[in-house]
Amino acid sequence: MSAVTVSDLDVWFGAGADRAYAVRGVDFEVAEGESFGLVGESGSGKSTILRAIAGLVPTWSGAMTVAGETLGAKRSKAFYSKVQMVFQDPYASLHPRQTVDRVLSEAMGLHGIQDIDSRIGRLLDDVGLGPGFRFRYPHQLSGGQRQRVAIARALACDPSILLLDEPTSALDVSVQAEILNLLVDLRRAHGLTYIMVSHDLGVVGHLCERIGVMKEGRFEEVLSVEAMRRFEAQSSYTRHLLESSINSIR
Ligand SMILES: Nc1ncnc2c1ncn2[C@@H]1O[C@H](COP(=O)(O)OP(=O)(O)OP(=O)(O)O)[C@@H](O)[C@H]1O
Ligand SMILES: [Mg+2]
Repeated sequence: MSAVTVSDLDVWFGAGADRAYAVRGVDFEVAEGESFGLVGESGSGKSTILRAIAGLVPTWSGAMTVAGETLGAKRSKAFYSKVQMVFQDPYASLHPRQTVDRVLSEAMGLHGIQDIDSRIGRLLDDVGLGPGFRFRYPHQLSGGQRQRVAIARALACDPSILLLDEPTSALDVSVQAEILNLLVDLRRAHGLTYIMVSHDLGVVGHLCERIGVMKEGRFEEVLSVEAMRRFEAQSSYTRHLLESSINSIR
């Protein structure tokens, strides 16, 4: 079964004459356990696709399914126990007055998870933070550690799909690889499916099997990471994109 399908997705902002499309006629399918990348220039609609799947934009048309279930206007609690999103900026996404313990226990409480105490220990372990981090506040953590907490929060309800919006681009270059490797390990350990946005073709090459190349809200093409490495692109736009990132791809 497909983990996620998106068919003929349009997303727009504004009403009447001010209506502007951010996403136009997008189709793709992500298999269970697959990692699918979204790339393309700034403003091309990458984040909007993730937000539409996550139920964070109200104005869209087309069809989307998650684990075989058709998505409607609102997302259920059951949806969020399957699908979680990780944002670019771990500074903004964690509440400054909540300890790591509180962040994780609230996320589990929302989903009626029992046995919170021992699960927090395991979650911190899973993301490479020891028990010493449990009662820290965000300001007592490095950027990479905060992103680990944000990832732990996303995993708290044991989802099968993560929507990752540039999860490493706000981090120091030296820390980016650590977080990417963590994401690779977590996918393997938990059998996760990823849809991941990145500006960096090296990053999607490391993490994904296929990538969708976006331009002005549309898909230019979908290609495998092997094809990307061989510079086998159908469209000239994709070829230019690949050529401009030649050093990070190889
Ligand atoms: N809430 C909103 N209201 C109005 N327009 C929006 C809103 N969110 C996004 N847009 C517009 O939709 C388009 C796509 O934005 P989106 O954030 O999806 O781009 P992106 O590909 O993620 O870009 P970046 O790489 O800079 O993050 C842009 O033109 C943007 O201005
Ligand atoms: Mg974006």
